[in-house]
Amino acid sequence: MEQKDVLPPTEEKPKFVRNMFTEISARYDLMNRIMTLGQDRRWRSMVVKEARLPENGSFLDVATGTGDIGYEALRQHPGAWVVGLDFSPGMIEAGRRKHSGRGFPFVMGDALNLPFPDDSFDAAASGFMMRNVVDIERAFSEQVRVVKPGGRVICLEITRPSTPLWKDIFHFYFFDLVPFIGQLVSKRKNAYTYLPHSTLAFPRPEELKGIMESAGLSDVTYKVLMLGTVAIHVGVKK
Ligand SMILES: C[S@@+](CC[C@H](N)C(=O)[O-])C[C@H]1O[C@@H](n2cnc3c(N)ncnc32)[C@H](O)[C@@H]1O
Repeated sequence: MEQKDVLPPTEEKPKFVRNMFTEISARYDLMNRIMTLGQDRRWRSMVVKEARLPENGSFLDVATGTGDIGYEALRQHPGAWVVGLDFSPGMIEAGRRKHSGRGFPFVMGDALNLPFPDDSFDAAASGFMMRNVVDIERAFSEQVRVVKPGGRVICLEITRPSTPLWKDIFHFYFFDLVPFIGQLVSKRKNAYTYLPHSTLAFPRPEELKGIMESAGLSDVTYKVLMLGTVAIHVGVKK
């Protein structure tokens, strides 16, 4: 299948993405566990550690979806003030429903126009969002704006491996098996066909680092995990 048959035109992308995540929200967490062999929890835990929150610090989970990064932030820092933001009503509803114990506010909003004043949070993070936005630099700039000076911005995202044989194996897994599993588990093959295609035009880790720097972050570093398929980038607001 060609990329143009799977990816929406730029002007339709936000609506496409919002509807798609609302459709898959009920099985979103289960699909994550299956696709990543349970590793996604570990990555989210690393994201929260990278935030280096101070005691009773504030943390924004941008594109929180079903809230897994936000809930992990509360687990690691019970005294923290956590806010999750997303533009998919279905994902927010699924996220709100699943808390057992202390929850956090889910705000409906756009990652490209965050509804928060400047310098509001000690850290902001996004998990698996950047592939889905129409302007990556703007998404980072908004996080830079709402984070306090010295605060950290963290990005967890899929990346494509470059090792020759592994690259082909991963391609088969991601482009053939994942849509098949998606159909079985969530009955939404289209969403899990969009997922691998959305990585094709996504910047490589070194390029993403440059975009973060252009957005106003300094000391940008990244780690590539899971045999080169996932990357965590971290930058500091000057
Ligand atoms: C793959 S999910 C990731 C959810 C969660 N961060 C996680 O780690 O599981 C991507 C989320 O990004 C949200 N999203 C994409 N573009 C967005 C935007 N411009 N503003 C707000 N949310 C957005 C989608 O609604 C979806 O919930």
